[in-house]
Amino acid sequence: MSASVVGLSGSPAPVSRSRALLELALAALERQGSGPTRLIDLAQLPADGLLGRREDREVTAALRAVSEAGVIVVSTPIYRATYSGLLKVFFDLLPQDALAGKVAIPIATGGGAGHLLAVDHGLRPLLASVGALVVANGVYGTDAQFRNGVPEPPLVERIERAANEAAALASGVTT
Ligand SMILES: Cc1cc2nc3c(=O)[nH]c(=O)nc-3n(C[C@H](O)[C@H](O)[C@H](O)COP(=O)(O)O)c2cc1C
Repeated sequence: MSASVVGLSGSPAPVSRSRALLELALAALERQGSGPTRLIDLAQLPADGLLGRREDREVTAALRAVSEAGVIVVSTPIYRATYSGLLKVFFDLLPQDALAGKVAIPIATGGGAGHLLAVDHGLRPLLASVGALVVANGVYGTDAQFRNGVPEPPLVERIERAANEAAALASGVTT
């Protein structure tokens, strides 16, 4: 069965704060009845396939999962003031309008608050460039908002708010 909600983790780190927020968002969407969820760890996909050097079964399956989903949740660490290169190479493989008719939630974590606007200046246009309807409530967390990998309550609340908005929008969005 294809997942109605697909999460894309763009962190290359094996233990990842942005991925932790992604997992919370997927759990919130599942609780709200948005359908089955699937998390795709982009760092686990073969690099040759991601870089377009050759066709790759796993990368093709990931692209198909995105095309079949109704809600896409994207998480990334901030690298050099914007989203990760890992996320970028995956998005470069998506066809034009690949996310048309889909709702998207942008999530990012950074070392500090200085690059907070990367959600609005980086992730939001990235998602809009392939046609996604992006929620107003994007999420940005700083490393100081995590204790032993667990996000503090205000950050969890922001994830809940974004998931609520995505669920409401998705129920009214037609392809
Ligand atoms: C190569 C590299 C570049 C980074 N660049 C930035 C940056 O420009 N701005 C920032 O706020 N944090 C930066 N950071 C910190 C990470 O964004 C931050 O620790 C983030 O929470 C990591 O997410 P993750 O645990 O999901 O991988 C950088 C970290 C690395 C490893």
